[in-house]
Amino acid sequence: MRHLMNITDFSVEEINELIEVSKDIINNGSKYSEKCKGKQLATLFFEPSTRTRLSFESAMLSLGGSVLGFSSASSSSTAKGESVGDTIQTVSCYADIIAMRHPKEGAPEVAAQTTLVPIINAGDGGHNHPTQTLTDLLTISQEKGTLDNLTIGLCGDLKFGRTVHSLITAMSRYKNVKFILISPVELQLPDYIIKDVLEKNNIEYKVTQSMEEYMDELDILYMTRVQKERFFNEADYIRLKDYYILDCNKLGKAKKDLCIMHPLPRVNEIAKEVDSDPRAAYFRQVKYGKYIRMALILKLLEIK
Ligand code: CP
Repeated sequence: MRHLMNITDFSVEEINELIEVSKDIINNGSKYSEKCKGKQLATLFFEPSTRTRLSFESAMLSLGGSVLGFSSASSSSTAKGESVGDTIQTVSCYADIIAMRHPKEGAPEVAAQTTLVPIINAGDGGHNHPTQTLTDLLTISQEKGTLDNLTIGLCGDLKFGRTVHSLITAMSRYKNVKFILISPVELQLPDYIIKDVLEKNNIEYKVTQSMEEYMDELDILYMTRVQKERFFNEADYIRLKDYYILDCNKLGKAKKDLCIMHPLPRVNEIAKEVDSDPRAAYFRQVKYGKYIRMALILKLLEIK
């Protein structure tokens, strides 16, 4: 039985295979409409979500399966003090596969110790969000036609943004990828990602506080929101929340084929006017999230 805790649980070959299956689902959706008939997905969200939970549910329904679950800890017996391990052991008596989001880093690993079915980490605290990364990889592959030879700007909250940590880890395994790390000093990428991922793998990167400095070099601009829920101090959040706002003016020097991504939800960091720029890929990215999760469910349930 396989789980997905971290993007590195899958080899590059497995990720490329998931991307290929997703592309086949995009082109031949009806072929997949009964693949999960009789199977049940549980979505256990101890932390808020729109895209991840609903895309998992939509993915399973489009595969002919069914869904159950809860969308907040307060509506489950967690509110009575039940442990994550007991909750998972219980739900794995009802479901064939579980997607869970939890505010505590490492909670999915705890779940994996008591489960009877595959567990998918749908986000654990500021740690990892591997299915967002799969979504991002499919988006890049679809929009740029390759995952190699790309310069990727990551902008905003690089400290708490778990999607950024997972994406850097994943993209570091492809050829000739460079990163431009754009953030205020207080929200810089954690040292462990710099040392254990970028430096260990000899990946080229530049650090800047300016959104515009390297704009003309970027193939991808990956915007992130400042993660309010991870701040201890409201005043710090208020000071940093609007540090970067991407608008049409700031895209002046950008490449004509730049791909603008954002895991969403957006707060203020991308002006509404950018949405109508064909380079804005973030709502297409939302759609890719469903297809890659369909491919992932099939893989973990070992359905061909
Ligand atoms: N991208 C993402 O994880 O969105 P949600 O928090 O809405 O699931």
